[in-house]
Amino acid sequence: MFPSEMRQYLAPTRLLYGPGTLSQLGQEVKNMGGSSVLIVSDQGIARAGLLEGVIEPLSQAGIPAETFIDVPVDPGVACISQGVELLQALQADLIVGVGGGSPMCAAKAIALVATNGGTIRDYVGFGQFSQSPLPTVCIPTTAGSGTEVSAVTIITDEEQHVKMAIGSPLAYPPLAILDPELLISLPFWQAAASGVDALSHAIEACLTTQATPLTDALALGAIQLLGENLVHAASSRDVIAKGACLLGSSMANIACGNARLALNHALTWPISSLFGVPHGLANGVMLPYTLEFVLPEASEAMARVAVAMGENPSSAPAAQLAQRGLDRVKALLTALEFPTTFAPDQLDRTRIPEMADMLLQPGIYSLFRQVTLRVAGREDLIELYERSLAGWS
Ligand SMILES: [Fe+2]
Repeated sequence: MFPSEMRQYLAPTRLLYGPGTLSQLGQEVKNMGGSSVLIVSDQGIARAGLLEGVIEPLSQAGIPAETFIDVPVDPGVACISQGVELLQALQADLIVGVGGGSPMCAAKAIALVATNGGTIRDYVGFGQFSQSPLPTVCIPTTAGSGTEVSAVTIITDEEQHVKMAIGSPLAYPPLAILDPELLISLPFWQAAASGVDALSHAIEACLTTQATPLTDALALGAIQLLGENLVHAASSRDVIAKGACLLGSSMANIACGNARLALNHALTWPISSLFGVPHGLANGVMLPYTLEFVLPEASEAMARVAVAMGENPSSAPAAQLAQRGLDRVKALLTALEFPTTFAPDQLDRTRIPEMADMLLQPGIYSLFRQVTLRVAGREDLIELYERSLAGWS
């Protein structure tokens, strides 16, 4: 629906996409004025041999590059400080982040601290820094987080055991390279979990009070790409299917970056923060419960989701289509071998009231909770967590 008040749309990241696009990296870095590069990645990416393909075009363009591959899953404050120290010792002037959400978020955070000083903890929230980060190129090796097109960086506070969101309109990476050849050797489960994270971004973007026809166009396009390609992409070496998921993942994040995320990512924040459940897994397990809760207040929006997933729009009234949309999400999760519940060590039932309270505190996740088309109160949150331990059929 067209908004009745002013909205802003921001998508300043330039995208290069298609098989073999990585070969352009050297020229692109030159065009951006980079003369010495720090590549930020993780040990899994290095072991898979993917960094050679990143270094090669840089070296052909005569640009020296060093690597920082010590980024763990869910990087913390210490990792970012370590990366900044290395960057300064090398006097690198451009950062290339290569990997899934963790290395790319680390790259963005290092770029931000490099120009603003202090530690990443100083900039939690929105608009808390004034200097543009060092130029950064993001190169995803999974189709999921979408952080390559996002103004937000997620870093873990190791002391408080929570994930911090750091964002600013200054923080969009200027360039992202989406080359599906980097996804060829990705194991099935990693492809499935990251793809479902992207699907959740797209669906949530349709279910907020901030959604507009512009964000819906991107979100529904992403849902169609992911719905049609995710299972095949995860279980094959088909670069066209993987490329469709990669583009869908970026589209989903542009959509949710403008329409905001909603209840599902809010609900999974305490699960990942307190129990270390991987982000994609947590969002996929929670998604059917979230959608079931939101459905009564969101039948028109969920009907559009259902159509994007293949339903005939004239085959049934909106409420019925919306239910079929939920059924299609469940069928996709089943095809991707997702569990239907959290295991006891992934969600400790005795801590559910504390988790609900975390979501009621002011902050970004409370904001996600509040913009969803059906707002969940404390009792609703508790019931949703309880249900996610009971299972769906
Ligand atoms: Fe996510």
